[in-house]
Amino acid sequence: MPHVLILGGTGEALALARALALHRPDLAVTTSLAGATSTPVQPPGAVRIGGFGGSEGLGDWLHQAEVAAVVDATHPFAATMAGHAAAACTACGIPRLKLVRPMWQRRDGDRWIAVADAAAAAQALVTLGASRVFLTLGTRELRAFAGLDSMVFTVRMIEAPAEPLPLARADLILARGPFGEREEYALIAGRKIDAVVAKASGGDATRGKIDAARALGLPVVMIARPQMPPGPTVDEPAAAFAWLSQRLPG
Ligand SMILES: NC(=O)c1ccc[n+]([C@@H]2O[C@H](COP(=O)([O-])OP(=O)(O)OC[C@H]3O[C@@H](n4cnc5c(N)ncnc54)[C@H](OP(=O)(O)O)[C@@H]3O)[C@@H](O)[C@H]2O)c1
Repeated sequence: MPHVLILGGTGEALALARALALHRPDLAVTTSLAGATSTPVQPPGAVRIGGFGGSEGLGDWLHQAEVAAVVDATHPFAATMAGHAAAACTACGIPRLKLVRPMWQRRDGDRWIAVADAAAAAQALVTLGASRVFLTLGTRELRAFAGLDSMVFTVRMIEAPAEPLPLARADLILARGPFGEREEYALIAGRKIDAVVAKASGGDATRGKIDAARALGLPVVMIARPQMPPGPTVDEPAAAFAWLSQRLPG
């Protein structure tokens, strides 16, 4: 049975694993998760959890598991994993596809402030004179906002971080997406938010806050996507399924 590795942790990875389980029972599919959350949604097929130990560790794993093709369906901001996947697949001569959700496009009424990273986002909030800010970032990025003691932050995460938030004034909301525009509007308006900070993740699952901010006329400080390694890329699970079908016909 040809073995496919999906690098996961996203809705796109889950959708691909589900489609393969349904329509390609002749393939052995393993989804790999980083172990970032304690109760991940379980994809069908085999699941492995935790880092591989860099690109060399991943290369060893691919070799031992006799992987025939890799779909890197990690989040658009998981740049380290994407780099390791590219390097390991090149070294092992294994075909790799990047599956990454489509970028958001600016629409009339959007007030986006494009920044390169979390530190620049924090600076943009100071320039804006923001006082109540909605942050949907990971623990790593929150440190950049640590000095902004006059601002009240609403922070949303899937589960509570191991350490206290590095912010003087913050409310933590624990919730797993997707989040629709209506509920985001209620949250942002209800908390009197005056600026939103978001990663330019793209896709539908987290676009609700962007649509709600537009409807409320609020600025969105938008952190740019990191660069991805070159190589074939698709933006929806169906296209990744087609790519696999071409390489591994049933
Ligand atoms: N960054 C985000 O905003 C975000 C949002 C939603 C979901 N996620 C998901 O959360 C996971 C971690 O994201 P991240 O931004 O921390 O990644 P990252 O910075 O690119 O990766 C850091 C390290 O975590 C391990 N890792 C990452 N993804 C993995 C996977 N699917 N399977 C096995 N190991 C993995 C690798 O460790 P080794 O070097 O030891 O192999 C990698 O070097 C990813 O699976 C991603 O799809 C990320």
